[in-house]
Amino acid sequence: MPVVRGKSIEVLFSASTIARRNLELAKDIAAHEYNDLLVISVLKGSFIFAADLIRAMHDTGLSPEVEFIFISSYGAGTTSGEVRVLRDIDNDVAGRDVLLIDDILESGKTLKFARDLMLSRGARSCAIAVLLDKHTRRQTELTADFVGFECPDYFVVGYGMDVAHAFRELPFVGIVTGDA
Ligand code: IMP
Ligand code: MG
Repeated sequence: MPVVRGKSIEVLFSASTIARRNLELAKDIAAHEYNDLLVISVLKGSFIFAADLIRAMHDTGLSPEVEFIFISSYGAGTTSGEVRVLRDIDNDVAGRDVLLIDDILESGKTLKFARDLMLSRGARSCAIAVLLDKHTRRQTELTADFVGFECPDYFVVGYGMDVAHAFRELPFVGIVTGDA
């Protein structure tokens, strides 16, 4: 079991498993024949997944534009969860097909907010791609269009995801199991 910062990490999805899945996701995305596609990476957690997925998309012949939005949700696991844009995209989304990329779909509040925002700005469509889906935690009607993996209800780290700002750099997704 890998040890990082003195903690044992159990690998849930390895780097090679994720890489294979990213290519399948990219092919699924390409099959939709989106027009003038604008990919929006939801920061911070999606930065590694988005970086890998857009390169897999390139391998399937897609050439999306890429944007970033920094969204923060407070108390996302509670009914009082409030979502705010901390840094917005620079592009106009009106008339465009948008693909939001995020790390985890949990309650759905973050991505519901982001998708409603893009549609209210006149996006032609707004699809959602997530690496992980914790569907048992859902508090909204939201479903993602492209899902890497169903995620068991553990707090996961790595591949962009953190606990208290740590472990984003891990090339795999894992669970912190305790002191090594
Ligand atoms: P929600 O769908 O609005 O509840 O929020 C999902 C967001 O919560 C994700 O984009 C992550 O930033 C964060 N999150 C949820 N579960 C985890 C986890 O297990 N590890 C790290 N971040 C998580
Ligand atoms: Mg997030």
